[in-house]
Amino acid sequence: MSSDTSKINGINRRRFIQGSASFAVAAGLGSTIFSSEAEAHNWNSGWKHPPHHDNDKKLWHKVRNEFSLNKANTYMNTGTTGSIPNQVLEQYEKNSKIVARSPWDMENKFGDFPYTTEMVDDIASSFGADPYEIILSRNTTDGMCTIINGLQFEPGDVILTTHHEHIVATSPLNVVKQRFGVNVVEVQLPIYTGTETVSEDDYIEAFRSALNAHSNVRLLTFSHITYKTGTKLPAKRLCELA
Ligand SMILES: Cc1ncc(COP(=O)(O)O)c(C=O)c1O
Repeated sequence: MSSDTSKINGINRRRFIQGSASFAVAAGLGSTIFSSEAEAHNWNSGWKHPPHHDNDKKLWHKVRNEFSLNKANTYMNTGTTGSIPNQVLEQYEKNSKIVARSPWDMENKFGDFPYTTEMVDDIASSFGADPYEIILSRNTTDGMCTIINGLQFEPGDVILTTHHEHIVATSPLNVVKQRFGVNVVEVQLPIYTGTETVSEDDYIEAFRSALNAHSNVRLLTFSHITYKTGTKLPAKRLCELA
């Protein structure tokens, strides 16, 4: 891997893999089927690397206009049922029509038939990873179930998770609990409610004390960004702790 591709957008390859393992596996095939590099190069979204300032009013106005959400509502659910940006929606519709019309060659819009293995080759460097480190699953549910059900546990093994996991994590964890007799322990995450101070160290401490309390922890399962509060957990530090 060249030095150009090993550090993309400041994401170090190892950091990405260690910190977001399930995230990588979770990439949905449905939405990536048209996202080959060739397609991305041919499509001008009109976005010119906007500055990343939280208080940039123009930028956020533009972001808001990218969504067809009912303006009367403040919609805060970024997980479970999100809203697709208009540009993605338009491209999705356009491409779905092409596939419906000419499923045998897709009117050659995407080059040769879009095999997923070749898509991985195209997108891996954007994640600072080598192709063999990325798997495209059909969606997050598929990725999580594949990983968790593919692991071998012994009765009495412990899996640490959090009390803010989506059913997509808790459901396969329940399956292995019943299959192998593992003990699934939920770490209570400190919650920021607007008054107290919660730092990264507090999350680390919550996991550290759970790890100290159980000698046979075999797996940590947590969302990098929790769907209930949008909290970003310090994934890299948690992986190092494990
Ligand atoms: C944290 C989290 N995990 C998993 C899922 C399920 O994702 P998918 O519909 O891709 O299976 C969601 C849904 O939004 C989610 O918020």
